[in-house]
Amino acid sequence: MASPSGSPLRHLLGIDGMTPDDILSLLDLSETYVDMNRGPDKKASVLRGRTQINLFFEPSTRTQMSFELAGKRLGADVLNMAVASSSTRKGETLIDTAMTLNAMHPDVLIVRHYDSGAVKLLSEKVNCSVINAGDGTHEHPTQALLDALTIRRTKGRIGGLLVAICGDSLHSRVARSNIHLLNTLGARVRLIAPPTLIPAAADRLGVEIFTDMKKGLVGCDIVMMLRLQTERMQGSFVPSIREYFHFFGLDRAKLALAKPDAFIMHPGPMNRGVEIDSEVADDIDRSLIRQQVEMGVAVRMACLDLLSRSRPDGGRNTP
Ligand code: CP
Repeated sequence: MASPSGSPLRHLLGIDGMTPDDILSLLDLSETYVDMNRGPDKKASVLRGRTQINLFFEPSTRTQMSFELAGKRLGADVLNMAVASSSTRKGETLIDTAMTLNAMHPDVLIVRHYDSGAVKLLSEKVNCSVINAGDGTHEHPTQALLDALTIRRTKGRIGGLLVAICGDSLHSRVARSNIHLLNTLGARVRLIAPPTLIPAAADRLGVEIFTDMKKGLVGCDIVMMLRLQTERMQGSFVPSIREYFHFFGLDRAKLALAKPDAFIMHPGPMNRGVEIDSEVADDIDRSLIRQQVEMGVAVRMACLDLLSRSRPDGGRNTP
């Protein structure tokens, strides 16, 4: 994976700017880790001697656990900083926190933060690699990569597919990263949501916009549902949950409007009965949600591996 200048990529901050080759090489490497994770010996040593620190300023189950597992399976020493009981509670800034950790010579920081752009800012202050585990409403690159791996393994390709991203794309970093990735690999993307939950600049993102879910789902290969990100909302964006589910919640009847072999995806966490009905979420023949979680570990192993390889010092933090 290289930057547009051809030099090795030091950080993974977003999908925007990645080339098809960057993405495909990560997906191909992830495949080897899918096989390893399914086998009896889940341990490699490519990160032996390296130190990984997970720094999550927002709650997480899937991303934090899979990054921890990924680092450990590759042989790194993995630390999770407990933000709630850290000195950030005494007023220490994000940058001071990052500089403090940097002085301990980690090799990679995995950072989730509620402010868009915070992870990039942090990456400019440290001399180790930084992976964006989700920053505000901006990007969640490893989620888009694991979604792409899940789609490619299920459908055999990504180019040419019609993917509906349904729900709160206004506040969703998952949607933004997926739009960049799917466009880069030649898929067509539809955003389906009430007008209040569509980003203002959506027409510049290279997507089709539908405010009627029944029309938007017609002909889709993948139906990707999003949670209402109430933690990022000031005020109400939908009249009521009941009405939202009626018009924009995925159930068996609406799914029937997509292609007969369409698959359901959701980055999690799900809010059952809000954006998705349990009957379709748990349908093992149509739902890829559990596969997405499995692919998350493999993709994060590939990202850690590739970033450490692409550093001139072989991944070691040198002051
Ligand atoms: N999809 C995702 O980012 O889930 P978590 O918030 O549980 O990490």
